[in-house]
Amino acid sequence: MRVFIVYCHPSEDSFTRNMRDAFINGVTDSGNEYIMSDLYKMGFDPVMTEQEYLRDANYRNTPEVAADVLAEQEKINSSDAIAFIYPVFWTEAPARLVGWFDRVWSYGFAYGDKTMKVLDKAVILCSAGNPLERLEEFGLLDSMKRVMLGDRLFGRAKEAEFIVFDGTSREKEQREKNWDMNLQKAYEEGLNLFGQKD
Ligand SMILES: Cc1cc2nc3c(=O)[nH]c(=O)nc-3n(C[C@H](O)[C@H](O)[C@H](O)COP(=O)(O)O)c2cc1C
Repeated sequence: MRVFIVYCHPSEDSFTRNMRDAFINGVTDSGNEYIMSDLYKMGFDPVMTEQEYLRDANYRNTPEVAADVLAEQEKINSSDAIAFIYPVFWTEAPARLVGWFDRVWSYGFAYGDKTMKVLDKAVILCSAGNPLERLEEFGLLDSMKRVMLGDRLFGRAKEAEFIVFDGTSREKEQREKNWDMNLQKAYEEGLNLFGQKD
């Protein structure tokens, strides 16, 4: 499979960056291929313009979508699977990725008379500073899953998974203690999620 990785983290000095690289090693070791949008490195503009708003809100196919949005849409339609990799910020994805959805999930592509293909697989790999018990309290983890799986990815992939690497905050002992185990897990997800190519 060809996997489109949408990666969003402001710093290379991060657990998320290491987790991303381990995942990529798994993808390539299983004989699959990938392309990637590194949203910070690309300087992807997450801010919807008024013109884009009026197009999407009025269910219009005009004007043409912007070139940077079109490029992302083409990456999706030339792939079989999509993987989102990011740290949890305030129980959401970082703003740059949230804005990526605002703009790339445009009318006529992701909704309406859509041209977006139904992907074989979608996976979300996110890192969260809090431990799982804290994320489950007040249904925070559930909220994040519902937004990603029940809204953004709903009907847009045949299978979708949400994987969280919890307790990764720099102040938590767990971060260092579970570092290697978490990277191994990310590697194995990359290795097994998209099937082995002979
Ligand atoms: C602005 C900001 C907001 C954050 N919000 C949350 C949050 O809502 N829940 C949570 O579990 N962790 C939160 N974190 C912690 C990050 O998810 C954590 O830093 C990351 O998952 C792992 O570290 P990394 O940045 O080294 O990849 C936040 C961190 C920052 C910088």
